[in-house]
Amino acid sequence: MDTGVVIVAAGSGKRMGAERNKLWLPLGGEPIWVHTVRLFAGHPEIGEVVLVVNSRDRQEIQDWLDQNQEKQKVTVVLGGAERQDSVRNGLAALSPQCTYVLVHDAARPFVTGEQISELIRQVRTDGTSIMAVPVKDTIKVVGADGIVQSTPARESLWAVQTPQAFLVSLLKEAHEAAVQAGYAGTDDAMLVEWLGHPVRVMRGSYENIKITTPDDLWTGEEILRRRKG
Ligand code: CTP
Ligand code: MG
Repeated sequence: MDTGVVIVAAGSGKRMGAERNKLWLPLGGEPIWVHTVRLFAGHPEIGEVVLVVNSRDRQEIQDWLDQNQEKQKVTVVLGGAERQDSVRNGLAALSPQCTYVLVHDAARPFVTGEQISELIRQVRTDGTSIMAVPVKDTIKVVGADGIVQSTPARESLWAVQTPQAFLVSLLKEAHEAAVQAGYAGTDDAMLVEWLGHPVRVMRGSYENIKITTPDDLWTGEEILRRRKG
């Protein structure tokens, strides 16, 4: 299969304020990262999963995989200091069969199989596709002095999520150029934009939240409960 996913799970979850990586916190009784890995490993259009972890979690994650069928599709690699470093390590571990790659935060367990399929359809056409939603709030640029500098028109503002999908060759080129130039982006699309390549946006869903702070856990439990019906 020509499509793989790099799932980044190597952070520490500082904003959650938990004792260890937030991805171990339970959602519906299972660690957050397990929900995410299961969804992608079970998706018929995803041929391989590269799971990027930190050295503290590695053994425990490997032990879980050894007892679960997801193992067959999953390769575990170590991440780096910043998310961008973790993605780069993950890309290096993709097999040569992969023409397309999705990059996804393990901390976003609520993307759906249908959305993944739609994203794959779009990347096959355009070479890029990122999930995003129109912002609901008015966004302001605020200076360090606490004074509003400007208010961009809301119609053109989108809050960007993952997964983000790219031609593997394009994303590798972008990461390579960024590391050479010392350019840091907060998502993968930024690096591709910086190369001057157009990036296609796919309308995602407001449910595709990133579990970041403790209140997100409550929202997450609610989403799970509703989906279970
Ligand atoms: N991530 C990673 N490697 C890093 C930093 C982050 O793989 N060096 C991953 C996280 O594990 C997470 C995703 O990138 O799945 C999105 O990052 P974020 O939500 O910011 O998670 P953390 O960086 O762990 O949290 P915080 O910023 O609050 O410390
Ligand atoms: Mg972070």
